[in-house]
Amino acid sequence: MLALGIEGTAHTVGVGIVDERCRILANVYDMLRPEKGGIHPREAANHHAELVVPLIAKSAGVAGIELHDLDLIAFSQGPGLGPCLRTVATAARALALSLDVPILGVNHCVAHLEIGRGVTDAKDPVLLYVSGGNTQVIAFARGRYRVFGETLDIGIGNLLDKFARECGLAFPGGPILENLALQRSRLLPLPYSVKGMDVAFSGMLTAALALRTHGASLEDLAFSIQEVAFAMLTEVTERAMAHVDKEEVLLGGGVARNRRLQEMVGRMASDRGATMFVPPGDLCIDNGAMIAWTGLEMHRAGVRMTIRGTTVDQRYRTDEVSVTWR
Ligand code: ATP
Ligand code: FE2
Repeated sequence: MLALGIEGTAHTVGVGIVDERCRILANVYDMLRPEKGGIHPREAANHHAELVVPLIAKSAGVAGIELHDLDLIAFSQGPGLGPCLRTVATAARALALSLDVPILGVNHCVAHLEIGRGVTDAKDPVLLYVSGGNTQVIAFARGRYRVFGETLDIGIGNLLDKFARECGLAFPGGPILENLALQRSRLLPLPYSVKGMDVAFSGMLTAALALRTHGASLEDLAFSIQEVAFAMLTEVTERAMAHVDKEEVLLGGGVARNRRLQEMVGRMASDRGATMFVPPGDLCIDNGAMIAWTGLEMHRAGVRMTIRGTTVDQRYRTDEVSVTWR
C-alpha cells in the first residue's frame, strides 16, 4: 500500500510518500522564509498553493512511482493557520478525487509522534514535541494521545526565532543560536518558568532582550537561553515520564534537531534507565511523510472519511483523535 501525505499547517509545505512498512519513498518540502517579520498566514497559503502541485510531481519522481500507484491521500487537517490548512486540504481533495482513492485528514501533532514510532524502535514513548508554534509533552493513555504538559504562552521555537529576529539574525533562528551557543559558556540569569508539567517562555524572551540592550553578548545569551529553556523542557518531560510510568522518550518537531536539547533529554533518560529516540532531522520538522504514515495507519485500522468530513480545524486538539490503530 502506498500513501501520499501533504503537510501544510504553517510555513512549510511538504509531500511525502510511504509504504506499509514505513519506508520513506519520498519526502520533499519547501519552507517559506519571510525576509522580515513573522509569517503572514495568507502569504504562507499563497506559497503553499504555488508549490504543492510541483512538490506532488516531484515526490512521485523521487519515489519512482506514478500517481496512479497511490492507494491513499492524507493531509494535515489541523491544528494550524486557517488559510494554509484550507490550501493543502483543497489540493488533497482534488488529488484524491482525480485518482479515485480514499482521503484522510490527519492531526499534525499526532503525526509527529507516529512517524517517530514508525522509524525508530520506540513503542510507547512520551513525546516531547518542540517546534515553532507547539511545545507539548504527549503520551498515549486510555485510547488517546493526551497532552500532559504544554507551553502556556509561546512555543520554544518561537522563543528562539523571535529572539533571533529582534537581534537581527535570519529566520529560522534556532539553528543559528545553536551555533552561537557553542562559542560561549557564561550562564546569565533568565526566568525558569515551570508550573507542574507546563512551561512558559515569554518572560524569558523579554528578559533576554533586556540583557541584550544592556550589552550582553549574543553568544552568552544564546547559550543561556538554551540552557534554561531546555532544562525546563527536560524537567517537565521527566515529570510526565514518571507520572505515566513510561520508559521511552521520543523527540519531535524542528527544535528536536538541537544537539544540546538531545544531550540534556538523553542524559535525563539514561539517569532513569529509560531510552531516548530521535528521528532523522527531515522527519522531525514539519513534513509530508509523517502525514502519509499516520494516514496509512489510520486507514489500516478502518478509519474512513467522506470529502465532507475533511473540513479543516485550526484548533484540532491532540486528544480529540480516537487512536484506534494502536
Ligand atoms: P509547528 O507547525 O508544528 O509549530 P513549525 O512550523 O514551527 O511547526 P518545524 O519545522 O517543526 O515547524 O520547526 C521549526 C522550528 O524549529 C523553528 O522555530 C526553528 O528555529 C527550530 N529549529 C530548527 N532547527 C533547530 C536547531 N538546530 N536548534 C533549535 N531550534 C531549531
Ligand atoms: Fe509541527
